[in-house]
Amino acid sequence: QRISWDVQAAQKGGYKHFMLKEIFEQPRVVADCLAGRLDATHQRVCLEELAGMPVPKRLHVLACGTSYHAGLWGMHLFEDWARIPVSVEIASEFRYRNVLLDEDDAVLIISQSGETADSLACLQLVKSMGVPVIGLCNVVGSSIARESDRVVYTQAGPEISVASTKAMCSQLTLLTLMALHWGQEKGTLREADRIACIEALRQLPALLDDHLPAMREKARELSRLYADARSFLFLGRGHCCPLALEGALKLKEISYIHAEGYAAGEMKHGPIALIDPHFPTFALALDDALFPKVKSNLQEVQARNGEIIALTNEGMDLQVEHPWIIPRVWGPLGAFMALPALQLFAYETADYLGKDVDQPRNLAKSVTVE
Ligand code: AGP
Repeated sequence: QRISWDVQAAQKGGYKHFMLKEIFEQPRVVADCLAGRLDATHQRVCLEELAGMPVPKRLHVLACGTSYHAGLWGMHLFEDWARIPVSVEIASEFRYRNVLLDEDDAVLIISQSGETADSLACLQLVKSMGVPVIGLCNVVGSSIARESDRVVYTQAGPEISVASTKAMCSQLTLLTLMALHWGQEKGTLREADRIACIEALRQLPALLDDHLPAMREKARELSRLYADARSFLFLGRGHCCPLALEGALKLKEISYIHAEGYAAGEMKHGPIALIDPHFPTFALALDDALFPKVKSNLQEVQARNGEIIALTNEGMDLQVEHPWIIPRVWGPLGAFMALPALQLFAYETADYLGKDVDQPRNLAKSVTVE
């Protein structure tokens, strides 16, 4: 039955929408995911959920939507720190292929709800092949959590808004801990990197708390400039590529503005034909090894009069219409500052356009049917 307005307002903690509340819960979510999983004395990760499980020879990550984007991001960490070959696949595609898996592989199914039909079907297919399954879920006791051989809970708390925000933040946190755990097990993770990463994780909740209000203001300002766009291009490279895909998904699913996320290096292979003054680009140009490549991709966009919003860090040599400076964070953990910016840009655009932010048309919180 309809909940009275004041009860709903109370449930939103005074925020206008559940989505905004959940974006601002991300500092606590990171802290909750880290609680009890970091050994402060030795600066190591203790992931009880994976204790005793052999490190997989190959890891197959299966998921849908935002959870798929989280998996694409996690792939970089598993490869870099644990030297594990990784494939990341959309569950609805994987389940109908004649896939080849070995018994010393492992499958990681990422699902906030733990009820997504295609992801659950993949779990059952993979288990029938005798391959161990790890479930990375947010809902305790959900089908995927119950049927997985091992389950890692993201402890983000209930996510009400259909558009996933804090759940993805919690997924990135646990994927980081899993990659650190396996890197420790295999001895493939440099101690300096492990310590730097753990230190950066510890600082994230306060950093997010400090910067989210200003990020919201910047998102608000930019959303008004581009709310009339008919289409948006989101570009990123390396571990920022999955974030570009996620930024596009967020914008289209709540504002109904068409948006495409693309690997920046793919521009020349077609998308650059689309660039014109009415087709803005939202780029991720953070201070990492691929920055120079992203910068030259953006110069190609500008040469065709495309306007650019670029998430970047202090002091980066980047000339675009709208540089959006966010705090520098160690290595791939820059994602934790870029993600809320992308979420807030989509939120402010959809709210400005008067869309039903928490319950976008045609969407369900959990896709329990194919
Ligand atoms: C994300 O904003 C969407 N609501 C959707 O893509 C979602 O991530 C996808 O349906 C997967 O859901 P799950 O994580 O519960 O399996």
